[in-house]
Amino acid sequence: MSLVFAINGQRFELDLSSVDPSTTLLEFLRYQTPFKSVKLSCGEGGCGACVVLVSKYDPVLQTVEDFTVASCLTLLCSINHRSITTSEGLGNSRDGFHTIHNRFSGFHASQCGFCTPGMSVSLFSALLDSKSSSEFTVLEAEKAVSGNLCRCTGYRPIVDACKSFAADVDIEDLGFNSFCKKTSLPPFDSSDVCSFPEFLKDEVNKSIDSGLHRWCSPGSVEELQRLLGACNSDGLSVKLVAGNTSTGYYKDERERSYGKYVDLTRIAEMREIRESRNGVEIGAAVTISKVIAALKEIRVEKMFGKLAAHMEKIAARFIRNFGSIGGNLVMAQRKQFPSDMATILLAAGASVKIMSLLSREVQKVTLEDFLQEPPLGVYDLVFTIEIPFQSSSELFFETYRAAPRPNGSALAYLNAAFLAQMKEDRTVVNCRLAFGAYGTKHAIRCKEVEEFLSGKVITDSVLSEAITLLGKFVVPQEGTSDLAYRSSLAPGFLFNFFHSLTEKPSSNGYHHHLDQPKQLSSSQHVPINDEYFPVGEPVAKSGASLQASGEAVYVDDIPAPANCLYGAFIYSTKPSAKVKGIRFKENSAPDGVVSVISCKDVPKGGQNIGMKFSFGTEPLFAEDFALHVGQCIALVVADTQRHADTAANLAVVEYETEDLEPPILSVEDAVKKSSLFEIYPFLYPQKVGDTSKGMSEAHHRILSSEIRLGSQYFFYMETQTALAVPDEDNSIVVYSSCQTPQYVHSTVASCLGIPENKVRIITRRVGGGFGGKAVKAMPVATACAVAANKLQRPVRTYVNRKTDMIMTGGRHPMKITYSVGFKSTGKITALELEILIDAGATLGLSMILPSNIIGALKKYNWGALSFDIKLCKTNLLSKAIMRAPGDVQGTYIAEAVIENVASSLSLEADTVRKINLHTYESLALFYKAGAGEPHEYTLSSMWDKLGVSSRFEERVSIVREFNESNIWRKRGISRVPIIYPVSMFSTPGRVSVLSDGTIVVEVGGIELGQGLWTKVKQMAGYALGLLQCDGTEELVEKIRVVQSDTLSMVQGNFTGGSTTSEGSCAAVRLCCETLVKRLKPLMDKSGGGGPISWNKLISQAYAQSVNLSASDLYTPEETPTQYLNYGVAVSEVEVDLVTGQTTVLQTDILYDSGKSLNPAVDLGQIEGAFVQGLGFFMLEEYITDSEGLVLTDSTWTYKIPTVDTIPRQFNVEILNSGRHEKRVLSSKASGEPPLLLAASVHCATREAVKEARKQIRMWKGVDDDSGLMFQLPVPATMPVVKELCGLDIVESYLEWKSRVNSRL
Ligand SMILES: Cc1cc2nc3c(=O)[nH]c(=O)nc-3n(C[C@H](O)[C@H](O)[C@H](O)COP(=O)(O)OP(=O)(O)OC[C@H]3O[C@@H](n4cnc5c(N)ncnc54)[C@H](O)[C@@H]3O)c2cc1C
Ligand code: FES
Ligand code: FES
Repeated sequence: MSLVFAINGQRFELDLSSVDPSTTLLEFLRYQTPFKSVKLSCGEGGCGACVVLVSKYDPVLQTVEDFTVASCLTLLCSINHRSITTSEGLGNSRDGFHTIHNRFSGFHASQCGFCTPGMSVSLFSALLDSKSSSEFTVLEAEKAVSGNLCRCTGYRPIVDACKSFAADVDIEDLGFNSFCKKTSLPPFDSSDVCSFPEFLKDEVNKSIDSGLHRWCSPGSVEELQRLLGACNSDGLSVKLVAGNTSTGYYKDERERSYGKYVDLTRIAEMREIRESRNGVEIGAAVTISKVIAALKEIRVEKMFGKLAAHMEKIAARFIRNFGSIGGNLVMAQRKQFPSDMATILLAAGASVKIMSLLSREVQKVTLEDFLQEPPLGVYDLVFTIEIPFQSSSELFFETYRAAPRPNGSALAYLNAAFLAQMKEDRTVVNCRLAFGAYGTKHAIRCKEVEEFLSGKVITDSVLSEAITLLGKFVVPQEGTSDLAYRSSLAPGFLFNFFHSLTEKPSSNGYHHHLDQPKQLSSSQHVPINDEYFPVGEPVAKSGASLQASGEAVYVDDIPAPANCLYGAFIYSTKPSAKVKGIRFKENSAPDGVVSVISCKDVPKGGQNIGMKFSFGTEPLFAEDFALHVGQCIALVVADTQRHADTAANLAVVEYETEDLEPPILSVEDAVKKSSLFEIYPFLYPQKVGDTSKGMSEAHHRILSSEIRLGSQYFFYMETQTALAVPDEDNSIVVYSSCQTPQYVHSTVASCLGIPENKVRIITRRVGGGFGGKAVKAMPVATACAVAANKLQRPVRTYVNRKTDMIMTGGRHPMKITYSVGFKSTGKITALELEILIDAGATLGLSMILPSNIIGALKKYNWGALSFDIKLCKTNLLSKAIMRAPGDVQGTYIAEAVIENVASSLSLEADTVRKINLHTYESLALFYKAGAGEPHEYTLSSMWDKLGVSSRFEERVSIVREFNESNIWRKRGISRVPIIYPVSMFSTPGRVSVLSDGTIVVEVGGIELGQGLWTKVKQMAGYALGLLQCDGTEELVEKIRVVQSDTLSMVQGNFTGGSTTSEGSCAAVRLCCETLVKRLKPLMDKSGGGGPISWNKLISQAYAQSVNLSASDLYTPEETPTQYLNYGVAVSEVEVDLVTGQTTVLQTDILYDSGKSLNPAVDLGQIEGAFVQGLGFFMLEEYITDSEGLVLTDSTWTYKIPTVDTIPRQFNVEILNSGRHEKRVLSSKASGEPPLLLAASVHCATREAVKEARKQIRMWKGVDDDSGLMFQLPVPATMPVVKELCGLDIVESYLEWKSRVNSRL
């Protein structure tokens, strides 16, 4: 029997006996077909990079059904007779890109491009869903990609690209793009793509032979029973499979092998939805998407609409499309999965039919009983789920969930659903109250509270008693994270339900507890500067359509060379321990393992070096001692990536810790033990003024205030990866996804002990770096090189997400203690700081942190500034330099000081900010030569300008009014300035003209998504265009920027620090000037009859042997190599006091880009960096255990921003601050500085929390101001915010009300 399916119209037939049933569709696509647009990023259903379209043909109705799935979780066997369309199947460079690809490009919605193919397919599917294009609305457009993650763009341009297809949108309402009118946009036409080829339709009718192979698809219950009976007698292990999405959560399941995989989706009763007089019976294998659609159809029953709306928040659409309702309930019942489905169906009174496949008995039990029973047996089947109709008009139903992402794609901290029958006089006749996901074995009904409420009239005191009772039952299990927060949500939801019913029952009897969130909207003011045309034009990113179609080649897309092997890291799980040896569990080598590479395999003459940089070297493999958790101990090499990953999981490292000093696991301990890294004096920032004097001039002082800041993980969509290929004469080629090819090069050479001319590092593009692929990419490439060298076979490693999170680390955590002196006006006179930075066990690039922190912190005039900064050497993972390293912490520290001063003086923080803004004179004092000329200091005028354009003062009053009239929501607004110093460094370039007039450009800088190639192309177009040949305007079209190759372009330096694009452009300009000089005489000679065409000029140059290849190294002028970047942001937020959820209502940014080289690219950098900063300040919890092992190591636990968490109104204005001869065509950096502006969201949240605290203090009768001097930790997640607003807010409100009432 064969598996027959189509991919992008191409027929595939596989002999079922040769297929491992645990193979995923993604593995098949990426390793066995040429279709590489399907990207692997998380492998757990949490990111959408691997989304494909599945099309299914119904031979009876002769219709095709199309839906998206996460190919990383979908089993290959389950797509039998289906057709798969990937992004390159929608369109491509050979047959023409699809209009979706062109829109992503035209809307500047693709940066590194790693997420874009998945986004494209998600959008395509959403457009297909809206049966005709006129039904695709702006609202649907926003949801089209709601489960897809993007770490680069900040989502706004992606949403605009989606909205551009909406029937109800005017192109004027959309963000900055390359299209002039909506009519100029090619429309979406579903017939452009044939999702289901004719040849497959014939296959669908062929019978399916079940039972013979490890994968079987029984077509009836009888067949299933026979099959399982046989398995039981043969003692075969069995796995029932519906959508297989549960393996996204239970990852160990992927490594288990079963005797039989039994597909449940062909059994008619299990995939049907039947409506009867009493309710709806849903087959357990029905997908959640289909359940939602059916429930929405049954309009008579309002409860069903609520259930459907809640289900739309379960996972992402591409999971709901394949994940079944039964699968969800089994996960909840058998494995305590924190399910939403179980909770809401429990309140709805659902029941479940269970079939014993051995005894063939069918039993109907309530969902409540089902959940309480012992875990479902292997041979027990959830057959159907029945949801009864609730016909009484007095019934009220509502569901709730508190989760880090409001629209789904995040598990709930707690979910709840309530059903109540109420009389008009507010008497509860009866009710059903279900709670789940809060750290309980399974969803529960809180019967004690149900009984208590039954028959009672709802009053504040009854609610108060009910809430007290509830507190005894909704108690998370020991060890649950955010335990108190989760418990506190239950009273909030219960109160919300009954209070809203009794206060203002709406005409339909249902109270909408949440307003519809405002639709996303935005504005962009972008200056176009044509002085250096085409530099300054908002040209679309080079290769964006190629990225969207998925044809852009990343390291893991390079076809595997013959004999290729795959590596996976074995890392230390102990800090400070002797490594005695490595073995595998059960003491036998797992499948496919070829070798375990460790320090012993570093060749003679080589050194065990995994990183070589200006500050020194670091070991590749731990030798006999592991310094920290996450340290690389070995690379296990196997025949496939899956085998390598499985083997690494099965590896057991034997340690010995006896007689060892305890590890240093905190900065305090490091200081106590004098475990510090030396900071080179020239990297240590300089103090300003005399702080003792400043302190003595102060009217007030705050002494020894403490701040702690944690880490942030890069979450580039493409994890660390490299491919090493041994070459002739003991040389090696390494394809590395890195920001530092030059340094990877010398690291590999030193490690292998070979001369540098025998090493070649090639990097074409990187799927996001953010600093994480600077130092931390080196050991990945080097380990592959060592393995390839030893085994003399190509070795590739694509680090899985969990290992990447554990081994790469992130931002530097730090502890800050400060004392500040200030006048009564808020003018600060002195700031003294002690900063302890956790650099981890090895130095890396941590040495740059002190000056970065202080560089950003000096944005205010502190009067005098002094500091003591220590780089602590701990037994924790070595930290990496993440986008705006140190700068973001510096800016935050400055704001924390300002807020503290403002609170202690009861002044508005904005007033204190303004009074401490620099004048040019104080700027020059703090930044010395870096301050530049007086006219370059734009910050103070930007502060005022943004104040006016964002209507700051007016909105402050509106926020005040809002807060006075709202009890359960509070708003805050905040304006924050930033100063960000950057330095230029040397960068090489080469420009070569080929005989047909096309041009090839090489630069040292790497394209990471930041638009470097695009700017470089524009610069080459400008600089060669100065020749003024005929047709030079089209020169840009002739230019191709090619991959970085360390043997071709030496001294490539590194890509980072925001200025590599400028530096690369400067190098290219120098090369072009040389070419122009060489071509000019020829041109003057031949141009007698008017301007000569470019192609003709080049032909003549070739004929006359003019050297048409020029290379150069740009080196910045000595003083100053540094300049300052300025920006201001105003953010307004709303905090829901019941859940602690913060919604960013509006952000306005004004950013000085100088004369932008490409304003579209800079806009993308500004928005993308801001949203990454938003993640740092508000969402991304980086939690480790006491020994430093990262616990938030997956998309389940680490939450980067999504479409639904960015500012609802997002306005960006780019300021053109004019000419500056020392900068590259007067441009300024945009890659990192705008990240700091996200501090405005944090500060606004603090304002809102302050209002909440004022209110609760009033309720509690506390009248001193001490509670208003508080710090809002970073990130200000929902639990953090709620805790500061008062976990007992509902209880306090009820008590206060009862006191007030008793006084009346
Ligand atoms: C990224 C992601 C996010 C998610 N977020 C949420 C969320 O926020 N809230 C929420 O409630 N859920 C969430 N889920 C869970 C999701 O709803 C389930 O993964 C899905 O419904 C499982 O269905 P399935 O068909 O894929 O099950 P499968 O993976 O096929 O099966 C799950 C388990 O049940 C067994 N099984 C399947 N069907 C039956 C049956 N009929 N009888 C007996 N045993 C059976 C299987 O053997 C397996 O052990 C999320 C899932 C993912 C991947
Ligand atoms: S890789 Fe499949 S969802 Fe992330
Ligand atoms: S463009 Fe979306 S992740 Fe890079």
